[in-house]
Amino acid sequence: MFAMGIQTLDAIIGTLAGKRGVMTEQTILLAGATGDLGGRIARALAARGAAVRALVRPGTPPDTLAELRSLGVEIAGADYGDAAAMRQACEGVGCVVSALSGLEDVLVEAQTRLLEAAVAAGVPRFIPSDFAIDFTRLPPGSNRNLDLRRAFKERLDRAPVAATSVLCGAFTDMLNGAAPLILFKRRRVLYWQNADQRMDFTTRDDTAAFTAAAAMEPSTPRILRIAGDSRSARELAALMTEISGERYRLLRAGSLRTLGVLIRIARTVAPQRDALYPPWQGMQYMHDMFDGRGQLQPLDNGRYPELRWTSAREVLAAP
Ligand SMILES: NC(=O)c1ccc[n+]([C@@H]2O[C@H](COP(=O)([O-])OP(=O)(O)OC[C@H]3O[C@@H](n4cnc5c(N)ncnc54)[C@H](OP(=O)(O)O)[C@@H]3O)[C@@H](O)[C@H]2O)c1
Repeated sequence: MFAMGIQTLDAIIGTLAGKRGVMTEQTILLAGATGDLGGRIARALAARGAAVRALVRPGTPPDTLAELRSLGVEIAGADYGDAAAMRQACEGVGCVVSALSGLEDVLVEAQTRLLEAAVAAGVPRFIPSDFAIDFTRLPPGSNRNLDLRRAFKERLDRAPVAATSVLCGAFTDMLNGAAPLILFKRRRVLYWQNADQRMDFTTRDDTAAFTAAAAMEPSTPRILRIAGDSRSARELAALMTEISGERYRLLRAGSLRTLGVLIRIARTVAPQRDALYPPWQGMQYMHDMFDGRGQLQPLDNGRYPELRWTSAREVLAAP
């Protein structure tokens, strides 16, 4: 009778743990917790009551560590070149989340060291640092930074671990200046080729909240697509007109073919190969967003009903 009771309890706990968004007991290892998105994921995981271990490099400033510790995050210091230390950091972990940022040495090589450690420690799930438009549907060679994700994806898909990429479009926060779309001083919205091509945007915080929820789920699909908002250049112009009370007009910059030529020229004149975001890289992102093939469909926004999505209007109307 007692044994049956335990079994029933186990079954109930198993069913509950299998439900979406229900916290699992396993530790989440977060790589890149010292970065912008990584810090937000750490906060989102802590807010959900997850057991979080941050993988940090030796030499990480004490104040950064103190901030993470104040969230209840456990710190695991390891050099990515030290396989034993990396494996130890992965022991007992249910999901590795990577929010690393960089070029080939980071997105391909450091993430591969992380993947090897995860596999060696028997970690069942891995979320790579993808957080972009849908590079799986864009042709290789159109975007250097997306090609690095593609290269790591090949390794990840061969590894004995269940992987989930979170694809979120561009960070909505970048509409406030970082992305060359809304020209606030000139009251123009720039577009390439097609003013009606919708582009996907998700804020950093919403991306972090969704990633934390996905990390804590026992099982998730290979790709999860989210977009807090999807707007074309024409819709952004209308939105800005509404928000500012001043008329925003569209400004056609040229065709995608022209942009392709400009990218090649910029890359030849100012290659800046070691820079993460040289001007031609930003142009490649613009090209891919207006290309349309990287649009995120269908969306998994409803996967965790408790999450709320921040619109482009909220971001652009914020003081
Ligand atoms: N969709 C979008 O619009 C968009 C925009 C921006 C970024 N992103 C993506 O979001 C992700 C996170 O970017 P972020 O802006 O949050 O990056 P970030 O603030 O620059 O943080 C990068 C993190 O990576 C770590 N890191 C860098 N080089 C490393 C190495 N060689 N070995 C180990 N760790 C290393 C850093 O650790 P240290 O503190 O030790 O240096 C830091 O924790 C990336 O995939 C990025 O491409 C997407």
